[in-house]
Amino acid sequence: MKLIITPDYDELSRRGAALMADLIASKPDAAVILATGETPMGMYRELAAIRQRSGLDTSRLRVFQLDAYLGLGPDDPRSLYGWMKRSFLDPMQIPDTNVVRLPGDAPDPRAVCAAYEQAVEAAGGIDLSVLGLGPNGHLGFNEPPAEPRSPSRVIDLTEESIESNARYWGGRDRVPRQALTAGMSVLLASRHVLLVASGERKAGILQRALQGPVTPQVPASYLQQAPRLTVIADQDAAALLRRYS
Ligand code: GLP
Repeated sequence: MKLIITPDYDELSRRGAALMADLIASKPDAAVILATGETPMGMYRELAAIRQRSGLDTSRLRVFQLDAYLGLGPDDPRSLYGWMKRSFLDPMQIPDTNVVRLPGDAPDPRAVCAAYEQAVEAAGGIDLSVLGLGPNGHLGFNEPPAEPRSPSRVIDLTEESIESNARYWGGRDRVPRQALTAGMSVLLASRHVLLVASGERKAGILQRALQGPVTPQVPASYLQQAPRLTVIADQDAAALLRRYS
């Protein structure tokens, strides 16, 4: 594991964007899984700025959606695909044809999860998964308990996740109760995982994920066994990591 601790969120965003830019420069058609959520937004903005400045061609990336609420179409303002489109696909000029969605509104959600896994396989696996850290240790929407071999699937959201996502959608009643997520198996097989964590509220769970026991109760703890993991955390999120205590 490579752990990078930055003084603040802006530096976290710059370091993350630099890592992504290096990957894209060496493999312009890299297959990537991208988290939404607040944490990677600064990084995506920085990457867009790098693209503007240097002419880096980001348009050939093959993007896989990490997670989606069940029952929401792409045009619903709460759709995570819509969020990814606004924050990443459009600024990076990535055409829809380069994107593998987890369509939350598909009539047969189980079938689309299977198709998603086939698409990952057809792409030759994932080069980079960019992940945030749920307050309960979830990755994507792999809610605890989550086994490392769990496939891409429909999942019931935990109360904690509903609560923590309520702030985006104007109250907990507006948060859907089920979601689709890329499976732990897909994420852990990625050739490289970048985990980003920012702020005090992530300090406890980041410590458990990186230094606690590897357990289904903290899905992110399986990252300790990932082939290649880079963690970028700002000082506040890293505050409880043991070498800092
Ligand atoms: C959400 C999403 C994850 C995201 C995580 C952290 O519930 N399902 O994909 O990475 O929680 O979000 P944030 O970066 O806003 O803290």
